[in-house]
Order: sequence, then structure tokens, then C-alpha cells
Amino acid sequence: TSSDFVRIVEVGPRDGLQNEKQSIPVATKIELVNKLAQTGLKTIEAGSFVSPKWVPQMANSSQILEHVLAAPPTSPHAVTYQWLLPNVRGLDNFLSVWEAKATGKSDYPTPPPSPGSGQTPGTTNSHELSIFTAATETFTQKNTNCSIAESLRRFEPIMTRAKEMGLNVRAYISVALGCPYEGPNVDPHKVAELAVSLLEMGADEISVADTTGMGTAPKTAELLKTLSAAGIEKSDLALHFHDTYGQALVNSLVSLEHGIRTFDSAVAGLGGCPFSPGATGNVASEDLVHCFHSLGLKTGVDMEKLSEVGQWISYEIGRPNESRAGNATMAQ
Ligand code: HMG
Ligand code: MG
Repeated sequence: TSSDFVRIVEVGPRDGLQNEKQSIPVATKIELVNKLAQTGLKTIEAGSFVSPKWVPQMANSSQILEHVLAAPPTSPHAVTYQWLLPNVRGLDNFLSVWEAKATGKSDYPTPPPSPGSGQTPGTTNSHELSIFTAATETFTQKNTNCSIAESLRRFEPIMTRAKEMGLNVRAYISVALGCPYEGPNVDPHKVAELAVSLLEMGADEISVADTTGMGTAPKTAELLKTLSAAGIEKSDLALHFHDTYGQALVNSLVSLEHGIRTFDSAVAGLGGCPFSPGATGNVASEDLVHCFHSLGLKTGVDMEKLSEVGQWISYEIGRPNESRAGNATMAQ
């Protein structure tokens, strides 16, 4: 049944790499996306169209998009690629690549699969946009140089054009369980109020983000209850945990019990937001997959293949692999 299936949104190529100080070659990023697409992951956030002055590491995302459109990674199933953008300028930059290549709505026809790839002929990938705001004024200023209200106004034209183009939009709410500037006690009602506004505006999914990893089991439960009380459907929610305090798996289980079935994570536990000082990586995709499989849930992800990708990218960027389950799988 559908409730046995947990959707993993792999944010490694974007959230995972955006905070790396050394410039990572675009070929490495493209190879990461290609490898992830072969693990069974069905949703991959592959880059962002933000100001290169603010996040230099993401400056070559249009090349990644070009690659994904022109030579999609072979995978046995269709993959949804997500692209993060903060304003109309980002949308224009995305569309200048996408419109040139895309035919029809959100689908770009996949070339015939290479022999032996196992890909079903005619499988088409799709593309979605991600927008982002935050539950505190200070974080919104630090991350996007505007107020929360202004961030919502920026989304209106993005939403309108995305709908015209047939593109789904996911909306992140950052610092939902703690803010690096305003402290650990973020009002869950503020998160709920924003989620309602974003859904009314046309967002297809809300990703509730624990940017700082300050979330705990009771705080997560309280937030999810508050979101439900505000009338938000569980199927409209994704949870996005960073693991700075080691609570991400616990918080994921609390969310799972609450009925959440979409989780964001990064291979090898890569990641962090440049505007959240001290925050470390996302929960590792390998750890989530191992945990969900142990509960009899399905993710469609091949744990060994995913662990190999985690090992590979950690080596490529010169970081220790932060996934316990990934390291253990590779050591077997
Ligand atoms: P600003 O400086 O106020 O913008 O930044 P501006 O409109 O004054 O523009 C300044 C310059 O940037 C101009 O260039 C613009 O053209 C250019 P200049 O004329 O000086 O040469 N510019 C752009 N260039 C490329 N793409 C664009 C773009 N927009 C303007 N889209 C702005 C405002 C929103 C642009 C900036 O603050 C920004 O890019 N912020 C993004 C920060 C970011 O990427 N943070 C990380 C992602 S969010 C995250 O990690 C959290 C998440 O994982 C969930 C969680 O864990 O919480 C999603
Ligand atoms: Mg994040």
C-alpha cells in the first residue's frame, strides 16, 4: 500500500554541496546526479538558481540542468529533478535553459535508453521548482535579504509562471524547529501560518526544515500536531532534518508515526546552509533508507548502490563520510 512507501528527496547535490568552500568541478556534480539517479532515488534536488555572490558554489547549476535535459542519467525509472530559486531572476535563469530544451509541459523526452540500462523506453523525467522562506524574520533577512512578507510577495510571480509552464512548486520553511539567530523556540503557529499561506498560493508541497538541527522528539511532535490542527494534510508535507545534534533519525521516526511519508536527506550526510552558522549536514540518506527498510517500509532505493555513491562523493570532496549506515555497509 502507499503508506508502506516512503519517498526520499535527495538534496545532496544542492543542500549537500552548497556550503563547500572549495569550488567543486561541475563534472563532479553532474556525475553525482548521474550516480544518484541509478540508486532508485526518484526525486533529486540537483542545483539552485540563487545569486552567485551569495552562494558561489551553486553558480554552475545551469550547466547541471543543461546536462540533465540533454543527456538524462540512465535510470530504470523516471526521476523528478528539483531546482531551488529565490526570486524571478532565478526563475528566468532556470527558464532560459529549460524553455530552450523542453517540449510540452514539465516533461523532456528521454532519449532511447542505452542497452542494458534497464530503463523503460519512453520513461520521461520531470522538473519541479523549490522556493524558500523561513519562520523567523532574522533568518529570512540573513538568507534572502528580505522580510518574510516580502519573500511571499516574491513567490507570487514565480508561482503564476510555474503553473503556466506546468511545473510543480515545493516550498521550504526554514528554521521551523530552531533559529541560529532567534533561538531554539520558534513558534509552531508561525510555521503553520506560513504553510497555509504557501499552500493557498499554490505550493504543491511544503518542506518543513530543521535548518539548525535543534529539533527534538517532543518539539517535532508539537510542530506536527500544530500543522495538523491548522488543517494541513500530511500528504502535503515533507520533513527536512539536519543532523547537527544527532536527533534527525529520532525526529524522522516521530514524523513517520505522525503519518509523514516524504523526507529530505543528503547522501553521506553532506550539507549545511551557509547562513546558518554551525549547522552541519542533512540527515544521511543511507541512514534513513537503512532505518525505513528495517521497519518494513519501501523506499525503492538500493542501499549498497547508495552507500557506494556516499563513499565516492566523500572521497571526491575530501570529507569523511558522515553516514554511519553507509560506512557500515561499505565495510561489509
Ligand atoms: P540581494 O543582494 O538582496 O539581491 O540578494 P539583489 O536583487 O539586490 O541582487 C544583487 C545581485 O545579485 C544582482 O547582480 C542581481 O542581478 C543578482 P549585480 O547587478 O549586483 O551584478 N541576482 C541573481 N543572480 C543570479 N540568480 C539570482 C539572482 N538574484 C539576484 N536568482 C537574493 C537577494 C535572494 C538574490 C540572495 O539573498 C540569494 O541569492 N539568497 C540565496 C541564499 C541561499 O541560496 N541560501 C541557501 C539555500 S536555502 C537553504 O539551504 C535552506 C534549505 O536547505 C532548508 C533548510 O535546511 O532550512 C532549503
Ligand atoms: Mg537544508
